[in-house]
Amino acid sequence: MCGIIGYVGDRPACEVIVKGLKRLEYRGYDSAGIVTEDGGKLFIRKGAGKIDELTGKLGFLEMPGRRGIGHTRWATHGVPNDINAHPHTDCTRKIALVHNGIIENFSEIRDYLLERGHSFRSDTDTETIAHLIEEELKSSETFEEAMRKALLRLKGSFALGIIYADEPDRLYFVRNESPLVLGIGKGETFAASDVPAFLEYTNKVVFLDDMEYAVITRDSWVVKKLETGEPVEKEVQEVEWTLEMAEKAGYPHFMLKEIYEQPRAVRDAMHGNVDAVRKAAEEIARYEKVFIVAMGTSYHAGLVGKYLFQRLANRVPIVEDASEFRYEFENVIDEDTLVIAITQSGETADTLAAMKLAKRKGAKVLAIVNVVGSMATRIADLTLYTHAGPEIGVAATKTYTTQLAVLTMLAIELARVLGTADDGYLSSLVDGLSRVPELMEEVLKHDASLRELAEGLAGKSDFFYIGRGVSVPTALEGALKLKEISYIHAEGLSAGELKHGPLALLEEGVPVVAIAPSGKTFEKMLGNIEESRARGAFIIGLGDREELGRVSDVLVQMPPMDELLTPIVYAVPLQLLAYHLAVLRGNDPDKPRNLAKSVTVE
Ligand code: AGP
Repeated sequence: MCGIIGYVGDRPACEVIVKGLKRLEYRGYDSAGIVTEDGGKLFIRKGAGKIDELTGKLGFLEMPGRRGIGHTRWATHGVPNDINAHPHTDCTRKIALVHNGIIENFSEIRDYLLERGHSFRSDTDTETIAHLIEEELKSSETFEEAMRKALLRLKGSFALGIIYADEPDRLYFVRNESPLVLGIGKGETFAASDVPAFLEYTNKVVFLDDMEYAVITRDSWVVKKLETGEPVEKEVQEVEWTLEMAEKAGYPHFMLKEIYEQPRAVRDAMHGNVDAVRKAAEEIARYEKVFIVAMGTSYHAGLVGKYLFQRLANRVPIVEDASEFRYEFENVIDEDTLVIAITQSGETADTLAAMKLAKRKGAKVLAIVNVVGSMATRIADLTLYTHAGPEIGVAATKTYTTQLAVLTMLAIELARVLGTADDGYLSSLVDGLSRVPELMEEVLKHDASLRELAEGLAGKSDFFYIGRGVSVPTALEGALKLKEISYIHAEGLSAGELKHGPLALLEEGVPVVAIAPSGKTFEKMLGNIEESRARGAFIIGLGDREELGRVSDVLVQMPPMDELLTPIVYAVPLQLLAYHLAVLRGNDPDKPRNLAKSVTVE
């Protein structure tokens, strides 16, 4: 996720752009850059660092011109550094562009352009687009035609802002699966990834849809279809948000916004990992001794990974809390060991220490990370990115479900390499996984009823979350979400474990959240739920089977799906329940007490 802002009008473009970038910083903050045009010449300043710092260091506010584009980056391809910061240009430096998204076929396009003599300065997928437009320009009558032809060759998600030095008055903005909105002012026009970037100047907006592009000038705008270049009729809407509301896209908290971003994030995680997962699976297949190390929510993702690996690929990784791994497993790690480290921030001290130990002992280290260029990616031999975009809320939501998406892809690929599962079944799982974002959308519709449910539960002091098999980590994660933001005591456990002790704690009205999708232990789960009901527990069932409704006080109806995909989709209602309980109890879910987003001390 990155932020884009563009401006054409009478004001100094750099001022509007710097303000806009500040308001988009929540979308990415590892590097930033601006291009402006004055007298037919492009001026570009960019670098790694935060916007405030770069504004002083690079003199953003001294850039000339009344037309320009800015970008705040959250790296996906290429580490965050000065060269990889946007804007990127073609060989002639007349075309400059910024990008939010991932181009899946960029290496193929890059090879094609290298053969045609283009030279590249950065490691980004974005730069290939500038060169591709330059290449198409050779056989096109207009810049717009070249741009369209080039963009139709891209696979992936993109929101782009494009400027061409030889056209004095206009800017182009293109959208496919990454957000873009125009701001319509009087004698000035804006475009951005999100409304807050220009809300100070206008509240009249036009939302672009996928495969559409806009051509904006100081006092005109038109939206066209990328496929044909034909104009599309668009409605100008008025937004009534305050600036503060707009930064969170109208959501009251970042956590809620991030919960709602999950279908998009999971889609990006899948699109961004097709080739990388294949390579990683081939590497994993070489090792019999596999560890997964992580902390907190990432550890729960690791536990889901264990079920996926054992069910699909007959490989049983040892999943360890990273803080324990470093002290307990030193003697068993050697060159025949592969360690998978899962960490959204890539900066968690315990996970980094476990990775360093593994490296020291000669093990191979694979990292699953959200933050590009973070420490974990520098230690690891191989990194898979989750492409979730920055997560501001302390509670991990979209970084968790994207970790699960990557692990699911990895387990499927590993099963293919090892030949441990039926091909037909693996293909159906791939299909199922591609539908997960839609299922998440469907489940998000339970938001209002979960809020209602939370109203009745806000006074409770203990919760239990139970599941079996692959739903055990889901239960643990549901309990962790509740604890960390609502400050209610919660326990997550395997349902079979209940009668070995915890059942003694159940009494009239204690909420038990039963994660019970269809699957091989569904009947057993019903039995465990009955045991809890008999002690007066208040059962909240999450599942797709009618029978579950009969034993639950409240049923959260889930869509049917393969049991192995349930951890991703079932996380959503659990996050929403925790969120509403936190808010109803007067807590700020974005900044829970005593906790930090990344734990950089042991
Ligand atoms: C989850 O909601 C927590 N904020 C926490 O458990 C987190 O998952 C843990 O600290 C690990 O962080 P990491 O993924 O950045 O390594």
